[in-house]
Amino acid sequence: MDARDGIGGSLAGVDIKDEINRLRTERNAVILAHYYQEPEIQDIADFVGDSLDLSRKAAETDADVIAFCGVRFMAETAKILSPEKIVILPDMNAGCSLEDSCPPDKFKEFRDAHPDHIALTYINCSAAVKALSDIIVTSSSAEKILSQIPMDQKIIFAPDKHLGGYMARKTGRDMLLWPGVCIVHEAFSETELLKLKAKHPGAPVLAHPECPAAILDHADHIGSTSSILAEAKATESDTVIVATEPHIMHQMEKALPEVTFIGAPGADGNCNCNICPYMALNTMEKLYIALRDLQPRIEMDEDLRLEAKKSLDRMLEMASATVGMGDVGAPPVTGD
Ligand code: 13P
Ligand code: SF4
Repeated sequence: MDARDGIGGSLAGVDIKDEINRLRTERNAVILAHYYQEPEIQDIADFVGDSLDLSRKAAETDADVIAFCGVRFMAETAKILSPEKIVILPDMNAGCSLEDSCPPDKFKEFRDAHPDHIALTYINCSAAVKALSDIIVTSSSAEKILSQIPMDQKIIFAPDKHLGGYMARKTGRDMLLWPGVCIVHEAFSETELLKLKAKHPGAPVLAHPECPAAILDHADHIGSTSSILAEAKATESDTVIVATEPHIMHQMEKALPEVTFIGAPGADGNCNCNICPYMALNTMEKLYIALRDLQPRIEMDEDLRLEAKKSLDRMLEMASATVGMGDVGAPPVTGD
C-alpha cells in the first residue's frame, strides 16, 4: 500500500503517539525534526535542530532508519551522508521555494558562464545542485566558511539572494547572487513590522537571514533558527518579535513561558501568514504511516550521491574547523 493510501484509510482507534513510539523502537529509527515542524512533531522527535545540526546528526546516527521531519532537501542530505540507512520523509511533496528557484541545468549554465568563480551554495537546494557546487553552507555556517576563503576568490552564492546579500554586506565580499527567495521570509512586511515595533517599544526583533534586507535592517539579532532560539532564551525582555517561521516559537514558549513571543507580520498585519506550506505537509499521521510502511523513502543514484557528498563534506569540515589560524585554502574550482 502506498503511504498516501494510508492517509485515506482508517486510522480510527490508532493512538498515533503510542504507535510512533512503538515503531521507532521496533525499526531502530531516529526521528529528526526541524524547528519549523508543528509542535507535536517537535515534541516527539529525538532531536530538533537547524539545518547544520540536523546534517551532523544524520551523519553520525547509528539508527537503521532516519525519519526526517523537515523538507525534502534535508532528507536528501541525510541520505547523502548516511547511504546505508533507510531515510523516510512523511510527505515527499515537502519541497522548498529556494530549491525550486534553482534548476540544475540553469545553475550549470550560470556556473559555466563564470568559470573563475567557486560556487558556495545554500543547503536549501537539490542533490543535483549540490553536485554542481564546491561548498554547501547553512545559515549558521556561512560566515565561518566564508572567513576561510581567500578574499580574492570570486564566488557565486546560490540560491538565496537574501542570505547571500546579508553575507556580502556582513563580510564585505562581492558575490554573484542567484535570484532565489524563501516565500516564507519574503512575506514579512516592513510597514507592519514597524507598526508592531511601535506597539511594543523595547521588544527585540530576532530575524532569520532569509528575510529581505528591509526586514533585517530593523533586527536586533540575525541568525539561523538555532541562533535565534539561543538569543530568545537569553532575553531579558518580556516581549520578543520573531521574524522567521512561527513554529520555532514553540521552543521559545516552552523555555520561557513568562515571555510573550510575537511573530513578525505579513502585509495584512497577521502573524500567521508565514507558516511554511512545505513543512506543514508533514503531520503526525503521515509520520506514523511512514514509520509503519518505511515509505515514502529517499532513493538516490549512487554517482549523484557521491558528487553531492563532496560539497557537503567540505561544509562539515569547514564548519568544524578552528579558524583564525590561517585559512584552509581555496577549494578547487569545479566549473567546467
Ligand atoms: P536553518 O534552520 O538552518 O536556520 O534554516 C532555516 C530554513 O529555512 C530551513 O528551511
Ligand atoms: Fe524553504 Fe522557506 Fe520553507 Fe525553509 S521556510 S523550507 S527556505 S520555503
